[in-house]
Amino acid sequence: MSGLLAGKRLLVTGVITDASIAFSVAKLAQENGAQVVLTGYGRLSLVERIAKRLPEPAPVIELDVTDPEHLAGLADKVREHVDGLDGLVHSIGFAPQSCLGGGFLDASWQDVSTALHVSTYSYKSLAVAALPLMSPGGSVVGLTFDASLAWPVYDWMGVAKAGLESASRYLALHLGKQGIRSNLVAAGPLRTMAAKSIPGFEQFEDAWAGRAPLGWDLTDQEPAARACLALLSDWFPATTGEIVHVDGGYHAVGA
Ligand SMILES: NC(=O)c1ccc[n+]([C@@H]2O[C@H](COP(=O)([O-])OP(=O)(O)OC[C@H]3O[C@@H](n4cnc5c(N)ncnc54)[C@H](O)[C@@H]3O)[C@@H](O)[C@H]2O)c1
Repeated sequence: MSGLLAGKRLLVTGVITDASIAFSVAKLAQENGAQVVLTGYGRLSLVERIAKRLPEPAPVIELDVTDPEHLAGLADKVREHVDGLDGLVHSIGFAPQSCLGGGFLDASWQDVSTALHVSTYSYKSLAVAALPLMSPGGSVVGLTFDASLAWPVYDWMGVAKAGLESASRYLALHLGKQGIRSNLVAAGPLRTMAAKSIPGFEQFEDAWAGRAPLGWDLTDQEPAARACLALLSDWFPATTGEIVHVDGGYHAVGA
């Protein structure tokens, strides 16, 4: 087996279509020598169909990250396919419509709490659920959308991402003793199912195309996926609690 991730065993969450960032991560990881197990949420038969489009068909385990029973049973289900994990990818986000698209002042706590549960707290829950399978050198990687600024229309999802960025630093703190890293990739806007559910998302698209020094392709998930692979590999052995921007350089320049 050759490649950046030769011999690595990965659990990849968040595939729902072949445009999902997680799909690109799974595909590239397999092409680079990794064994991949997927989790799917809700429409399992759809995820299983998409999983067959990977270079190697990957097994799919059902996982709702807000379901304590799913989390408690996750390690045993993963063990049916691999004897341990070297890497874990959290590629999950959701907020009810009221939390997005300009509704910041009106969204209810009930809706906001759903967004935080699925998009923020789950980063910790998933890592803890997978921890029995992980050993020193292991890597947890998640996806954020730069939460150091307030964006139009992103609203409570932006707050959830700010929490995710902090949660990743705390995970780095608490898992460091076990030799496990936690890092995030801050991707620019990509036309996925999650993105399409944000009313006014095209505002990001126009801004990015005009401002990113390297330019930005809204339909190319591979740059973000490549960064995930790098963080899952042995090539960032002393990096944890970090956020790597994969946004064409947008975050680094003024308007
Ligand atoms: N698309 C973008 O512009 C962009 C930019 C930066 C970061 N991100 C982040 O990338 C990650 C992946 O999103 P994507 O853009 O590939 O969209 P996507 O719609 O393809 O993936 C989102 C995934 O979250 C899963 N999910 C939702 N609720 C869940 C639950 N309760 N339990 C388990 N899984 C659940 C969905 O099934 C889906 O697979 C998200 O964290 C998203 O916020 C996306």
